[in-house]
Amino acid sequence: MKTLKVSLDKKNSASYEIRIGADILDRVSLLIAKNFKAGRHVVVTDENVNALYGDTFRDALTQAGLNIKLIEIPAGESSKNIATVMEVVGKLLAAGADRETVLVALGGGVVGDLTGFIASVFMRSVRYIQIPTTLVGQVDSAIGGKTAVDLPQGKNLLGSFYQPKAVFADVRFLDTLPEKEFNNGLAEIIKYGAIEDDGLFKSLEDGIEALKNKDGKLLLKTVEACCRIKKNIVEMDEHEQGLRRILNFGHTIGHALEAVSGYSLSHGEGVALGMVAAGRISVRMRYLSAQAAGRIEQLAERACLPTRLDPAVDLTAVIDRLKMDKKKKDAVVRFVLLKKIGMPFVTGSVGDKMILEVLEGMSQ
Ligand SMILES: NC(=O)c1ccc[n+]([C@@H]2O[C@H](COP(=O)([O-])OP(=O)(O)OC[C@H]3O[C@@H](n4cnc5c(N)ncnc54)[C@H](O)[C@@H]3O)[C@@H](O)[C@H]2O)c1
Ligand SMILES: [Zn+2]
Repeated sequence: MKTLKVSLDKKNSASYEIRIGADILDRVSLLIAKNFKAGRHVVVTDENVNALYGDTFRDALTQAGLNIKLIEIPAGESSKNIATVMEVVGKLLAAGADRETVLVALGGGVVGDLTGFIASVFMRSVRYIQIPTTLVGQVDSAIGGKTAVDLPQGKNLLGSFYQPKAVFADVRFLDTLPEKEFNNGLAEIIKYGAIEDDGLFKSLEDGIEALKNKDGKLLLKTVEACCRIKKNIVEMDEHEQGLRRILNFGHTIGHALEAVSGYSLSHGEGVALGMVAAGRISVRMRYLSAQAAGRIEQLAERACLPTRLDPAVDLTAVIDRLKMDKKKKDAVVRFVLLKKIGMPFVTGSVGDKMILEVLEGMSQ
């Protein structure tokens, strides 16, 4: 089991450890019992994860001497809302949860974001632990303390920065993860390589197929590399005032494409297309070589992520959507572009015409 320490400003939040391994649930239970004592531990999970791992996980924690209550929510993004918050909070109160209670998020980003949000406000905040079971969770959402629920007006509009007390990533969970969900995680992994780590990017080029086949050693190595990148960025900019924005590489156009598709495009698919677009914009603005942009496209293709737009996509609607975001953020759309693989920068000066031409070039 590998341990990474996230060191944060003590004035704002305490530091915590991320532990990564395979088949580590027994040790995780013992560590929780030892380090996060409480009269009650409440596991929040979704129906799919509960069916696959609920009993095993509950048994492991009970064996370690903990008093466990498990709360199940329906699977999927549609659970990430205030109605579910109210339901879970009602169950917490009924179970006698108090300020000492520790919440344990067992699931993907939906369970993690929702549980973190509840933990940040329940009884003016209680401790929580992240046990991510998706690739997105393990490389991205479980680390960094961004919590949120969605509102009818948009995603993640109600939330907080509230760090977990610990993160335990067991790559064995990924054995049962459907391919489409796994691919969402791969898009974020490619992003980490593109913005921060040429070595990671090269290792993906060497072995993306092995990673897709869930080669144990490679998975561990990759998840660890990504956790390390994210934690380093979060340590330097916990509240996303600057540097942390580079994590949005591929996300500006990606989000707009997701929204315009009515969310029939998954987040990973949107991000893959957004990275291709950002790469091409970087080339047109003479920052990045065409060869480097091509490497991103080839890697995304090998990961079975889309790199071309359906010609039916209404590109003006995509631009309008970007402008809608623009209004919110002081009239500039911030793009993360690349100078090289591993060398990003943020700019507010990419014109609509350039974006439209690049998107047209991706339509076929
Ligand atoms: N907080 C952050 O920094 C951050 C970062 C990225 C994404 N997010 C959020 O995360 C959410 C997406 O997370 P996600 O992609 O993990 O989606 P998710 O939580 O909806 O999980 C995807 C699907 O996989 C199922 N599942 C989970 N683990 C499984 C397993 N081991 N085996 C089989 N099935 C399993 C779930 O039931 C669900 O149906 C979004 O709401 C997004 O906004 C947050
Ligand atoms: Zn993302």
